[in-house]
Amino acid sequence: MPELVIEGARRLDGEIKIQGAKNSILPIIAACIISRDECTIHNCPKISDVYASIKILNYLGCTTSFENNTLVINSRNILKNNIPDFLMREMRSSIIFLGALISVSGQAKLCLPGGCELGPRPIDLHLDGLRQMGLIINESHGILNCETCISGLRGCNISLSFPSVGATENLILAAVCAHGETIITNIAKEPEIIDLTNFLIKCGAKIKYNGDSTIVIQGVKKLHGTEHTVISDRIAAITYMSAGVVTSGNLILKNISEDSISSAIPIFEESGCIIKIFDKNNLKIECPSRPYSNRIIRTMPYPGFPTDAQAPVMSMNTIADGTSMFIENIFSNRYKHVDELLRLGADIKVEGKVALVNGVKRLSGAKVCARDLRGAAALVIAGLGAEGTTSITGLNYLDRGYENIETILSSLGAKIKRI
Ligand code: EPZ
Repeated sequence: MPELVIEGARRLDGEIKIQGAKNSILPIIAACIISRDECTIHNCPKISDVYASIKILNYLGCTTSFENNTLVINSRNILKNNIPDFLMREMRSSIIFLGALISVSGQAKLCLPGGCELGPRPIDLHLDGLRQMGLIINESHGILNCETCISGLRGCNISLSFPSVGATENLILAAVCAHGETIITNIAKEPEIIDLTNFLIKCGAKIKYNGDSTIVIQGVKKLHGTEHTVISDRIAAITYMSAGVVTSGNLILKNISEDSISSAIPIFEESGCIIKIFDKNNLKIECPSRPYSNRIIRTMPYPGFPTDAQAPVMSMNTIADGTSMFIENIFSNRYKHVDELLRLGADIKVEGKVALVNGVKRLSGAKVCARDLRGAAALVIAGLGAEGTTSITGLNYLDRGYENIETILSSLGAKIKRI
């Protein structure tokens, strides 16, 4: 089984360009099929979740080409409206194709995404909103059989009880070609949602925001193809910043928007980092010899501290001066990386959604295994800061969301190789 081998405690220094955002490209790929035309997407990260989405597109009858971070999707000849189990299970977030398939053909058949490494992943908010729009959904044996009535989906007012990212995206994808106006309140406000709606507007969708948590969509007859550049990945940026902290490094991150990481910047400054934004979307971070601990980190929906950054930032706190408290408010089982961090010598206690991290002077290398995407990133960060050799398995998780992570880290001075 492939593993990453890291000789830790080497300072990271240098400049990197941040990859395109995984959580932006995935809903945009699904949105492309609604256009039944050719879409060209730039800054598309080479990650396994994108390749899994391309497999779904090809199964549906789309042609695709993906070179040098540009993905071209032609959905003129889309034939199918079902996604088989084996493709759905490759990527949990493939449920995002539901709204798009309904907009394309009024029908969709796909399996429930099922739970995953972060705990149960219900889709009740997705389905409740779609039913309000008139979608007939039959669930049996884990399969969703969906079809609209003869007149198609109709716009309506939907209020989300929780600002779910996936539910917001699915309802937007279903509403763009529905009959009439759809108003969705309490939507997720993540930058990736804005990127999706910017893409859809370029395709001819009629979308506007009413304040920052209500979206108004006028259904149109059809969409057309377009060209779009995906925003950069704020979670990847925070991951590399955390890697700088554990190695007392100095990094320049190019192609990152300050707004998208606004809730994380104070965390790094509290740790003792000096952060400078220059030329609008470049960031310089100078890290102290040993970070101070972050007293309390609560994960919240955007613009709060992102749950996806919890594990990477926990890693940097394992060697901080002081104690930090993490409160994971979004997912019920997002501390799987803790057991592995303990193997590296971290001092962490978990009680329900709270994790207490007592900083130690140094971690020491060990064999560890990743069990989810951001937990994998946390183990890489910990290995970079640890004395000695760390080997990490479970790279299938890491490769879901990070493009060429070992090449990038090596370019900054890390001794890391995939064997
Ligand atoms: C998206 O997942 C992201 N994935 C996740 O990133 C991210 O952690 C999450 O949003 C929160 O920001 C993609 O964009 C592909 P949610 P999603 O619906 O849409 C509950 C990563 O590491 N909920 O906002 O699944 C749910 O159980 C991944 O890049 C319901 O109860 O997140 C969870 O507790 C991990 N019913 C909370 O809401 C629903 O119908 C947040 O889920 C939907 C969600």
